Amino acid sequence: MTALITGATEGIGRAFARALASEGRPVTAVARTEQRLQALMTELGPGGHDYLVADLTTPEGVRTVADALKATPYDLLINNAGLARSGPFTDTPLDQALPLLRLNCEAVVTLAHAFLATAHPGAALVNVASTLAFAPKPGQAVYSATKAFVTSLSEALWYEQKPRGVHVMALCPGPTATRPGLHADTPSVLVQTPEAVVASALAALSRRRRPTVVPGRANTLLAAAARVLPRTTALSLLADHQASYDK
Ligand SMILES: NC(=O)c1ccc[n+]([C@@H]2O[C@H](COP(=O)([O-])OP(=O)(O)OC[C@H]3O[C@@H](n4cnc5c(N)ncnc54)[C@H](OP(=O)(O)O)[C@@H]3O)[C@@H](O)[C@H]2O)c1
Repeated sequence: MTALITGATEGIGRAFARALASEGRPVTAVARTEQRLQALMTELGPGGHDYLVADLTTPEGVRTVADALKATPYDLLINNAGLARSGPFTDTPLDQALPLLRLNCEAVVTLAHAFLATAHPGAALVNVASTLAFAPKPGQAVYSATKAFVTSLSEALWYEQKPRGVHVMALCPGPTATRPGLHADTPSVLVQTPEAVVASALAALSRRRRPTVVPGRANTLLAAAARVLPRTTALSLLADHQASYDK
């Protein structure tokens, strides 16, 4: 099973690359920094892995990866690369807010479109969203909205692609310790390692049942609560929680 993973050199993407390579699956890794991509290739070792240097906030970067997806029949696309920013919306310059839309939404749509154009029965598409898809966090308005977009898109595609035998899944991690100190203020019961997130995702991918997967029991409960709580209560709870994910 060949896989193309965006944002594969760090965090959740890197954990996906390592897990899939350890199962003998050839991985194509995408990121902006060639040095880190080469280091990943060394770490993964032999097995037909390769990489593409692409900035997915640019039309050229997205085109490079879309062309690769159209030229090669991959079995799995993991749209993982994502950008987050924290702070009041009106304090965030537009030139910092709009790249979130390009990377978290536009690139996801374009790459999903390229992949699904040629996807064969048994293929799968994973779009990495967030638990903030279920209730937005004040202070991360644009980021939360992009993840709601990704989840909504994935759920509709899950239904559309089912008759073709192509599985589409929104992966909605909660706080994930992708670098030291990140989420230090978050209750530890909610914080997962990238490896735990990926293990849940791959288990769900083998079952191919649900369109939306929230890794971890505590985050699953919180996501369920966010869906049933009055919206104003959910917003207040999330606003009171200061920790945020910012890249
Ligand atoms: N960490 C969390 O707490 C958390 C929680 C919920 C959801 N998520 C979601 O999970 C996904 C992965 O997050 P992460 O925390 O694992 O990420 P990360 O550790 O920040 O890694 C980001 C990866 O994406 C690449 N990347 C960044 N900007 C890019 C661009 N413009 N074009 C191409 N590649 C780019 C980076 O490499 P280069 O810098 O070399 O390009 C790196 O490989 C994201 O979609 C994020 O929103 C994360």
